[in-house]
Amino acid sequence: MGFEYFTPTKVIFGKGTEEKTGELVKEQGGHKVLIHYGGGSVVRSGLLDRICRSLEVSGISYVPLGGVVPNPRLSKVREGIRLCREENVDFLLAVGGGSVIDSTKAIGYGLANEGDVWDFYDRKRTAKGCMPIGAVLTIAAAGSEMSDSSVITNEDGWIKRGYSSNYCRCRFAVMNPELTCTLPDYQTQSGCVDIMMHTMERYFNLNDTMELTDGISETLIRTVMKNAGILKKNPLDYNARAEVMWASSLSHNGLTGCGTGGGDWASHQIEHELGGMFDVAHGAGLAAVWGSWARYVYPEHPERFARFARQIFDLEEDGDVNALALAGIEKMEEFYRSAGMPTSLRELGIDPTDEQIREMAEKCCFFGKRTVGVIKKLDAADVEKIYLMARG
Ligand code: NZQ
Ligand code: ZN
Repeated sequence: MGFEYFTPTKVIFGKGTEEKTGELVKEQGGHKVLIHYGGGSVVRSGLLDRICRSLEVSGISYVPLGGVVPNPRLSKVREGIRLCREENVDFLLAVGGGSVIDSTKAIGYGLANEGDVWDFYDRKRTAKGCMPIGAVLTIAAAGSEMSDSSVITNEDGWIKRGYSSNYCRCRFAVMNPELTCTLPDYQTQSGCVDIMMHTMERYFNLNDTMELTDGISETLIRTVMKNAGILKKNPLDYNARAEVMWASSLSHNGLTGCGTGGGDWASHQIEHELGGMFDVAHGAGLAAVWGSWARYVYPEHPERFARFARQIFDLEEDGDVNALALAGIEKMEEFYRSAGMPTSLRELGIDPTDEQIREMAEKCCFFGKRTVGVIKKLDAADVEKIYLMARG
């Protein structure tokens, strides 16, 4: 399959790289910066102070706006847009994880376009630009530091929606693996699941003809699994933090989708409804639904799942491709459990009613306006069955 590959983000990777933030903003022509951050981890770690100092040294003024929550909210985006207009901000700096970067991207769309920013997420119109953004990453997970997408939750109806365009890609991403050493184990492991899933979503497709892309994908998944295990025992292992951090970017900058036609993405769409309604950690939510999705769709393309079992888990075939496909799915769930991740909604800590499941399935399929997935095109009835299988 033909493809476009566009990764304009300058990556500054390694220990102490956050000290270069001021220089990097200056290089991009920023004079007045919004420093956007989350619930306080960057304050407690002293990172925010270091970033402020770095900006001051480069003669750049700034205005801070914290309080972004996981599954970032539209109200905070609107607050950011108002503040940036009042303060004449010309560059946006995200200091945090996927939630902070995504909130920053949405603010960037709001500033560069007229009208209501939610219109883009609601598929009413497309953006014509985005204010320039840089990121200082503190958690390896969503890959937003190099991706073209952002995901925002509208509190009015608790609707979580993604919007993608090349305009929002970060101009630079500062990645110091040491900054991720303060993460709780649950967030580290949830991040690792999300990283693997960004490649797995692309891997499960109907055009399995790109040997090079498959090889990159399989190495990426195996590397993240190995290093997630190392971090479970020693969260301070720098090399493991570095492997996982670089994987987070490569897994979602488009590389593992080159030539595959785009990938499936149903698990992500199914999980986003859980994030919107129950506010769960995104990676953990993915682990909770993936096995049910895989069991539901694998008969459409068992050979692909069998390859996954062979390449990721070294499982051998004894003539029964379906059995091998299923064994691979079980192995992946075994890995999730060993990482302390859930493999059902109950293990995720939620117990949706039948009615809530129906509502999520309808929202997921935009009330009959779309199907999700490629391996098998899923309508609301299919998605409902997958939620019921995942309920546990
Ligand atoms: O808010 P603070 O106090 O910073 O705490 C955060 C948050 O509670 C904490 N944390 C982050 N860095 C830390 C830290 N705690 C201690 N030490 C550190 N160094 O971790 C928690 C989770 O942070 P969050 O930013 O929510 O994590 P993640 O990067 O997993 O982002 C999740 C969001 O990204 C979206 C998800 O749907 C979810 O809303 N996604 C965005 C994508 C994209 N833009 O390309 C793709 C993904 O598929 C995903 O959908
Ligand atoms: Zn994800």
